[in-house]
Amino acid sequence: METKQWVVDKHQQNIESYPQIIEAASLLQKNEVVAFPTETVYGLGASALSDEAVAKIYEAKGRPSDNPLIVHISTIGQLHNIVQEIPEQAERLIAKFWPGPLTLVLKRKEDAVSKKVTAGLETVAVRMPSHPVALALISASGLPLAAPSANTSGKPSPTLAKHVADDLTGKIAGILDGGATGVGLESTVLDCTSEVPVILRPGGVTKEQLEAVCGVVGVDRAILREGEAPKSPGMKYKHYAPTAPLTIVNGQVEFIQSLVNEKQNEGLKVGVLTTTEREDKYKADKIIACGSREDLESVANRLYDVLRLFDESGVDVIFSESFPSEGIGQAIMNRLTKAAGHKIITE
Ligand code: TXA
Ligand code: MG
Repeated sequence: METKQWVVDKHQQNIESYPQIIEAASLLQKNEVVAFPTETVYGLGASALSDEAVAKIYEAKGRPSDNPLIVHISTIGQLHNIVQEIPEQAERLIAKFWPGPLTLVLKRKEDAVSKKVTAGLETVAVRMPSHPVALALISASGLPLAAPSANTSGKPSPTLAKHVADDLTGKIAGILDGGATGVGLESTVLDCTSEVPVILRPGGVTKEQLEAVCGVVGVDRAILREGEAPKSPGMKYKHYAPTAPLTIVNGQVEFIQSLVNEKQNEGLKVGVLTTTEREDKYKADKIIACGSREDLESVANRLYDVLRLFDESGVDVIFSESFPSEGIGQAIMNRLTKAAGHKIITE
């Protein structure tokens, strides 16, 4: 299949009426799949109302179909069409964080979206993205869009249109290129079906920010401990993994360097994932600074691109520094730990 590519400048006015958006929206109305930028990562969108369209998403990604998708909307009216009720806590969170990187899991209305979107669950995950291109595309299509991250299943999520093209060219109808995404990690998935909301996936909106709006917020035990069965089906898969095995190291530069030397002595090419503060302190085959330790948002923003750059560099093993797990650090360590298959060495 030919994959069309359109470039859209997100800073322009009236993006909805752009020919690129109109063309992409008309493909969505024909039940085709189109990738688009959001403020978190690129999404792979298709009509949430059509079994045929949603099946194409799973096929293009090579994604197991027991893993449900997030429905992306551009108006609150669409939310009312999809869910049975909006609990008071959810109302307050919506007022504060939408549009933005927060996905709410709510009780779905019968037959409001394709059963393939919700993978047989009684609930549905919904979010209103804040990226102008995403909002324009949803409005122009007039459809709620089911959209997972636009990567091949198991690869790091795409933060540039190039990442999408590398994974999915020939498999989808089009890619809207709106430049680099903002947060760089996916949205926070919050289950709002119980009295105390529970974080199923840490992401762009932090636990601290949520608690400031609605008091105590729980965290799914599977996020905190290996081996627990997660409530969010997607969290059980090995995700975000670079090709070379990655190990997180809790330790000083000298200790990490000693691990690098050991592997190099075995004849292996070694990569180090570090930050701007320490990038000059290592000797290895590939050293990549993933943002600054002083600004964890910059680490989140670069993480997936850096994991993909290690893939391209041809190293055999990667050692990564560890990060504090407060604020956005919780999402960073969640993704990094998954990328490492839970391999962590402590000095
Ligand atoms: O930032 C994001 O959320 C991006 C952009 C494109 O919006 N999307 C994204 O989608 O990360 P995806 O499909 O890669 O991840 C969706 C996560 C999965 O872990 C899935 O299992 C979970 O949300 N999920 C979806 N519906 C759910 C439901 N009804 N109950 C619990 N978890 C659900
Ligand atoms: Mg994903």
